[in-house]
Amino acid sequence: MSKRPSPPAFTRRAFLHTAALATSASVLPGCDGDPPPMDAGLDAGSDAGPPIEEDAGILERLPPRERTYETFEHGIASGDPLTDAVILWTRVTPGTPTAPVPERVEVEWELGAERAMSTIVASGAATTDASRDFTVKLDVTGLSPGTTYYYRFRALGATSPLGRTRTAPEGAVDRLRFGFCSCASLAHGFYHAYGKLAQRADLDAILHLGDYIYEYGNAGYGGRREHLPAHEILSLADYRERYAQYRREPELREVHRQHPFIAIWDDHETANNSWSGGAENHTEGAEGRWVDRLAAASQAYREWMPIRELDAGERLRLWRKLGYGALCDVIALDTRIWGREEETENLVDPPVNDPDRQLLGADQEAWLFEQLRTSTARWKLIAQQVMMGAVSGFPNPDQWDGYPAARRRVLETIRDEGVSDVIVLTGDIHSSWAFDLPLDPTDEAAYDPASGRGSLAVELVTPAITSPGFPPVIARAGASFVRNNRSLFFAELTRRGFVILDLTEARAQADWFFVGDVALEDDDAEEHAASWATAAGASHLVEALAPVPPRPDAPPLA
Ligand SMILES: [Fe+2]
Repeated sequence: MSKRPSPPAFTRRAFLHTAALATSASVLPGCDGDPPPMDAGLDAGSDAGPPIEEDAGILERLPPRERTYETFEHGIASGDPLTDAVILWTRVTPGTPTAPVPERVEVEWELGAERAMSTIVASGAATTDASRDFTVKLDVTGLSPGTTYYYRFRALGATSPLGRTRTAPEGAVDRLRFGFCSCASLAHGFYHAYGKLAQRADLDAILHLGDYIYEYGNAGYGGRREHLPAHEILSLADYRERYAQYRREPELREVHRQHPFIAIWDDHETANNSWSGGAENHTEGAEGRWVDRLAAASQAYREWMPIRELDAGERLRLWRKLGYGALCDVIALDTRIWGREEETENLVDPPVNDPDRQLLGADQEAWLFEQLRTSTARWKLIAQQVMMGAVSGFPNPDQWDGYPAARRRVLETIRDEGVSDVIVLTGDIHSSWAFDLPLDPTDEAAYDPASGRGSLAVELVTPAITSPGFPPVIARAGASFVRNNRSLFFAELTRRGFVILDLTEARAQADWFFVGDVALEDDDAEEHAASWATAAGASHLVEALAPVPPRPDAPPLA
């Protein structure tokens, strides 16, 4: 069905005004990424305002979970699969509050071919100490492509839970299935979506698009659960304590135990609306130097996330390609820290319309274009943070809207180099969207939303794990956004969940799943919300009526 363009439903000013009137108890993921609470003012610092509930009315704020001090209290994890290698991760809890902390801990590991661990394929030992927060990270090599393995650790007389991971395939591949997700503010509730992803045995990997942690203190963003530490995190010790708290959540531990992650960071792994030289939620001086905070944030990220470490700098090179045979390349980007110029609210005058304006930085951008030019895989997945699709009447300076020349360079490269089957995967905005990506969605001669003629790629946007979407008055406008934007096919602005992306040679299909109320620990609901697919060669979304059925031959969960 073709869609008719019409005048914008909201101007930005009207949007902000409406939103401010609508609620004093919510946030607007669309206007500033993840801004502070409305009652703190749109541009206020983050540690302001009373506790807030978005979902379940006034609920008591819950204290941090009791510590167990088990040796592997923070679980195990794997990530960045190659055809012959995978990262394995764990952390040893070195003692209780009353026991002395050892200087070094030896950790043994083994990787087996079956769940029973009767055939050990690789094993070894490593040491860890306080200099890396007692985390352990291994790059296990010599593995077979497209193979599921199981693994475990031993230290201090204890054995870890059994983990499960999977290498990338090579050559011809029939089918791939990825879960993708983002935005897991612990202060807003419980990780139902991670729990649901953990139960799906047929996923090749989880693409985590960032906001894995949030930096706020208890007076900041979200009021259902207390953070550790209670204050906004600034130092290395603070960031480590926050990762540790998140990793004690059972559903997050479980999803890491069952699936390899391909993780990139968004802004909240450092501070809200961060860029290469600072952040909206960083006050230079009063909160120390940005370079020191960035160094602390990136060290903790390196220590705690199962990523392959590509360099030693505090900008933390996260842009990397992971190949999945002839079917797919995952091209992961950093649109936050690496090369992003500062955000500007002014979307008319310089610097926003500077033709050299950078979101990725020249080196990362050149690398992206090289990946697009040289990829021989069917599907080119660009895993990144902020929304690329433009929404008429709803421009967002935090997103690619604020970097129009950079967006144009990406789309023109796809067009000029004849790159087909590019899928942009996006997080950050705590809501669900699906776009065709033509150069100019308003140009009726150049782009036809009925046939997809003129579309250069598609974009799929995941809802949040827990972080809140839009207040109801804006959320109700989701349907008008779809009506008023020719290249936008789906928008749902309030629900939490995740997306499953199923790839075959013939088509790519995204299935959105929503979970129940994240403010309630025992809400087990899950529902299929929408499905959109693009045929190979089409770069054009078409609605699918049902989710792709799970694979019948999935290796058993650990
Ligand atoms: Fe977020």
